[in-house]
Amino acid sequence: MTDQQNLKSLWGGRFTGGLDPLMQLYNASFPYDQKMYEADIEGTRVYTAGLHKLGLLNDHELSEIHRGLKVVLAEWEAGKFEEQADDEDIHTANERRLGEIIGRGIAGKVHTGRSRNDQVATDMRIYVREQLLEIKRQLKELLGVFVARANVEIDILMPGYTHLQRAQPIRWSHWLLSYATYLSSDLQRLEQVIERVNLSPLGCGALAGHPYGIDRDFLAKELKFDGLVPNSLTAVSDRDFVVETMFWGSLLMNHISRFSEDMIIYSTAEFGFISLADAYSTGSSLMPQKKNPDSLELLRGKAGRVFGGLAGFMMTLKSLPSTYDKDLQEDKEPLFDALVTVSHSIQIATGVLSTLTVEKERMLAALTPDMLATDLADYLVRKGVPFRETHHISGAVVKLAEDKKVGGIDKLSLSELQSVDGRFGEDVVAEVFDFEKSVERRDAIGGTAKSAVLDQIARLKKVLEE
Ligand code: ARG
Repeated sequence: MTDQQNLKSLWGGRFTGGLDPLMQLYNASFPYDQKMYEADIEGTRVYTAGLHKLGLLNDHELSEIHRGLKVVLAEWEAGKFEEQADDEDIHTANERRLGEIIGRGIAGKVHTGRSRNDQVATDMRIYVREQLLEIKRQLKELLGVFVARANVEIDILMPGYTHLQRAQPIRWSHWLLSYATYLSSDLQRLEQVIERVNLSPLGCGALAGHPYGIDRDFLAKELKFDGLVPNSLTAVSDRDFVVETMFWGSLLMNHISRFSEDMIIYSTAEFGFISLADAYSTGSSLMPQKKNPDSLELLRGKAGRVFGGLAGFMMTLKSLPSTYDKDLQEDKEPLFDALVTVSHSIQIATGVLSTLTVEKERMLAALTPDMLATDLADYLVRKGVPFRETHHISGAVVKLAEDKKVGGIDKLSLSELQSVDGRFGEDVVAEVFDFEKSVERRDAIGGTAKSAVLDQIARLKKVLEE
């Protein structure tokens, strides 16, 4: 690097020696922060309007700057922005290009009172806000698919599991809505995260504030922020919004991974509850009969990647002295990766869920009478027997059916049932050995009865309308 080139870098004034070429690469964030070109240009447009209000730019200078920024934006959008070797980051690159278009004399004024420290924090918050708003839209779409399927397929019954062992009959819809319930919390949490992301650091300079009394409220309002970061030191060094975004994404991915794991299990030949559409499965290069749930495995696997980014950046932040330190540049790659991964994952999950086939006969066939053993105990509870006792009696019935190898508790005769407990009556068959009745009996809020499931659907529809 020549001294001449060096003078062109933003901070080059007091530096005379060149940078080690590897150091230049090591220091540059341009390869990944160029994504923020639009936020950066918008930030400069508004910031210079603020300088103009202060009389630090005249009308001609402001209009030249705004004209130049439009050209720079158009170049980015047409894919024609030409990178130069010493473009350290998106901020220096845009300013360099602006100077080439409108002349360095005027372009040299845009940074008055501003530092890359408040600039990068501003750009990041704008960029993250826009990404999160788009992700919110995608998440609502996914939630909508859950709700729509739950509504249409409400009559399908399946086994519910604990410890991955058959436990009690439930509705397929109920299972779907269990994940929709997680997602609706994710949506609520996302709105809260966006509120904290959407605060303006602009006008805080390098760390100590603005020397010309810029109207920070004006800057914030023009950039569609909801408020200000109230302390200039915090404004330039706070990356909690990055951490929160990645935590939010990690938890969402965690929910998606659990959903995916269930679906992977349900799609095996052993279960056969669902079949994935070809669009979301792949074949094996060796075994022609195979159809693999790659989409679900990737959804499951990528949870680790997003959480890894969060954990890594938490370590970067830990013990940093105030205020801006170059360590903070390490926020971008994990954050951007998390945003892309989360967005793609939500869209893939939406595709998988809206195209899969439910094998309701297989679900029904997987329901076994022993799953009604609790209902059998409940039957006696209704006759006044304490539950601890009925639990024991029902267990004895299960054992009797096993010993007699009759093929299930519903195959025992009434007299065999009565040999365990005399309080079993004629009505036991109709009342207990019916999966639909078992599911319908659980009609308290949050249960498997149709009315309770419809209530969940109604609640979620409300969330979607907001
Ligand atoms: N590219 C830098 C970043 O992303 C911009 C801030 C540079 N500020 C500084 N004082 N060197 O963090």
